[in-house]
Amino acid sequence: MADTDASRRGRLEYSGKHILAPMVRMGTLPFRSLCLDYGADIVYSEEIVDIKFLQSKRTVNTALNTVDYTIPKELIFRTHPCEHSSVVLQIGTSNSDQAVQVARMVENDIAGLDINMGCPKDYSVRGGMGAALLKTPDVAEDILRRIRAEFKKPLTCKIRLFHNMQDSVNFAKRMEATGIEAIAVHGRTKEERPSHKNNSAAIRAIAQAVSIPVIANGGSSDIRCYNDLEKFRLECGASSVMVARSVQTNPSIFRREGLLSREQMISDFLRKSIDFDIPFRNAKYGVQHLFGDTSTEFGQTFLATRDYPDMCEVFGFEDYYAQKHVSTPEKDRLVVEKKSCSLKRDREEDIVVEEVDYNPISKKLKKALNTFTPKSILLEHCKKHSIAPAQYSFTSTGKTFCGSVLVMGKTFISTVPHRTKKDAEQAATVVALRHIMPEFSL
Ligand SMILES: Cc1cc2nc3c(=O)[nH]c(=O)nc-3n(C[C@H](O)[C@H](O)[C@H](O)COP(=O)(O)O)c2cc1C
Repeated sequence: MADTDASRRGRLEYSGKHILAPMVRMGTLPFRSLCLDYGADIVYSEEIVDIKFLQSKRTVNTALNTVDYTIPKELIFRTHPCEHSSVVLQIGTSNSDQAVQVARMVENDIAGLDINMGCPKDYSVRGGMGAALLKTPDVAEDILRRIRAEFKKPLTCKIRLFHNMQDSVNFAKRMEATGIEAIAVHGRTKEERPSHKNNSAAIRAIAQAVSIPVIANGGSSDIRCYNDLEKFRLECGASSVMVARSVQTNPSIFRREGLLSREQMISDFLRKSIDFDIPFRNAKYGVQHLFGDTSTEFGQTFLATRDYPDMCEVFGFEDYYAQKHVSTPEKDRLVVEKKSCSLKRDREEDIVVEEVDYNPISKKLKKALNTFTPKSILLEHCKKHSIAPAQYSFTSTGKTFCGSVLVMGKTFISTVPHRTKKDAEQAATVVALRHIMPEFSL
């Protein structure tokens, strides 16, 4: 189906397309670029939560020819001209103000924007994001309408099914009325797992009820090669097909010319990971999925690798890595492979964003806290060292709160939504303690 360069250069269209589904950790630039090389028409990024994006800084990385969105010590989103007319950024949101701000920020760097309305993870749902939006159609509609009013590029949403087919159809029609270009439908309910059969009939019913393209998703169990993509599309009566799990282990499914060997795909992916300088943990995660069975001696050697030089040696890429690594100036290597960093570097950065869920906090942290709360420990620390008391603030994501704390000239944020302001404050304080007091860097 790859419509070649002509359609890739123009405005994104969603009919007759083979699409890489959003996948956390996997859907980064090297994998997206690999899928495009193999024949995918559109590539979705992994989901990025709106407030994380809003904390990030945009920079043009001249050494890599990429645009980077980063927060201190973390690369949030990196994109390259090779995907400029094919990349869709997926965001997690429950707040139309924040979603609009992200859309404004990123408009010139992407081909389209997608709102995640299907993620069943507790973390998303608690924050009113992902599949929670299926239960709050007014919020979902508001998000899409507000973005639509300002954002010039194509806009989509990705949903799961309701238990009742008519509810799924009604929801899809409501979203269509906001002016979105297409709707991706994963044929399972929020409660269903991949082992449950994908409901192609429900996707078909939605495709028949709306006028915009429907992108069928959820068919990985039956998609093993290029021809299966079309079979799944026809089964669902949809305009396009979106695939996650089966291309995670075999992206050459997108190749009209046929499947490639694992060795070839690993080489292609590893080369791109090095070229685009993504964090080692992402590169290893990707290789691991392409690798398949790691129980062999070779697999175990690979699993034991702890950094790029290690991993590159296993796959015979040491020369390539050495050459590329040296040619990327230090200042453009935004990749941070270790959580800990030097105090000097900490001082240069004024925002620290991490995902800390205060409830439940880890056993290790509980032990370190003893009977105190993170806030009381920080207060004591400030008193002892004559530091100005910490100042707390919040971002509201629907009915929940994300906390931030300003102390010693730096802002510490936890992106995990909490039901109460109190817990959100404690979570942000844990982030601060981890950076200010070494004994909490757990
Ligand atoms: C590793 C992994 C990460 C995922 N991350 C996301 C995500 O960030 N956003 C999203 O909407 N769905 C995400 N999904 C769900 C997929 O996009 C897709 O809806 C689901 O896997 C069903 O499609 P499939 O049968 O082709 O795998 C993820 C799935 C997997 C396996």
